[in-house]
Amino acid sequence: MLSHSPHFQESLDKRKEEGTLRCLKLQSDGIDFYSNDYLGLAKSKDLQHLMLEKVINSPQLLSGSTGSRLISGNSDMAVSVEKDIAQKHQFESALLFPSGYNANLALFSTFPNRHDTVIVDEQIHRSVHDGCKLSNAKKLKFKHNDTEDLENILKRQEGHCYIAIESVYSMEGDFAPLQEIASIASTYKASLIVDEAHAFGVFGYGLIEKLQLQNHVSAVVVTYGKALGAHGAAILCNETVKSYLINFASPFIYTTSTQDFQWMSIKTGYEFLDQNHELAEKLQNNIKVFRSRKLKSPSAENSPVQAIVIPDNQKLKELQNILSGEGLLTYAIYSPTVKEGSERLRICLHSFNTEEEIIKLTGIIKEFI
Ligand SMILES: Cc1ncc(COP(=O)(O)O)c(C=O)c1O
Repeated sequence: MLSHSPHFQESLDKRKEEGTLRCLKLQSDGIDFYSNDYLGLAKSKDLQHLMLEKVINSPQLLSGSTGSRLISGNSDMAVSVEKDIAQKHQFESALLFPSGYNANLALFSTFPNRHDTVIVDEQIHRSVHDGCKLSNAKKLKFKHNDTEDLENILKRQEGHCYIAIESVYSMEGDFAPLQEIASIASTYKASLIVDEAHAFGVFGYGLIEKLQLQNHVSAVVVTYGKALGAHGAAILCNETVKSYLINFASPFIYTTSTQDFQWMSIKTGYEFLDQNHELAEKLQNNIKVFRSRKLKSPSAENSPVQAIVIPDNQKLKELQNILSGEGLLTYAIYSPTVKEGSERLRICLHSFNTEEEIIKLTGIIKEFI
């Protein structure tokens, strides 16, 4: 029998006892209040047909890329999609990655050196923490969205600092004070990096583009697995930063490039998004319906992620089970993924949810709490 460390079983048993054991489940049938498919593009038959047409005309899109982009894996498709993306977001350049996780890993393992400090919002995505672990930089956390705390930390640092934030936070569903943080970064000559995973597509091309903050950031990450219904990510930056990543980012260099199909699906997704602005409007209408039901939530008024704090793992599980019994699929986030006492039901709203579905969902939650 293959052996493993005895602590594996102990850790799994502990999670089981606490009711927090993770396991892979097939998607259940039901009303989607849990996926990141905010605009329904992952289900769109029209988008599927557009991609299918391109594949039929060019079946080579489906084949492997044969190597790292620095050896045999680069392609006209990758280069032209990067050019388009940079232009759309009004950045000098863009660099594609197979996922947002990979993009953050590349950025945070490569940008800071061992004399630098990365200051992250305490709710930053795990991929940023993992990237920092691969660098030898010091990492400090500032209190969620607390600019005073951020400034106090910056004041005490000696080397170069990087600030890592998300424009829309995935657990809390609130916004970062982007303009204020950009101004603090400029005062302390720190480099600002913004992850737009949950803003891209929901708020046009993201909040950096909306607020025209392109010249105030070192890099922005946009991901395509959420509102675009596809897969992948791009780092938006200037030419020097792109060249630095191509030369020094291990997660970019030492891996076989993604097949052209993925880059094509991103390109087609952008075209679809540009022609279907009403989807983001429908989503905003549904968020309004949800908010009109007056459930207590730390999330922003117009955020696609609405969190309902149920500060007890068992109670939270009970509510989630009641909802799923009614065919309403939500996602429960237990401690230790979030701090003890802030366990929550994470509700994702979509353009395709109906008013009746939202009223049913909120009605059950109201009755429970
Ligand atoms: C804020 C944030 N950044 C990055 C990622 C990772 O993106 P991807 O799912 O494309 O790897 C996610 C998704 O979980 C996310 O929520």
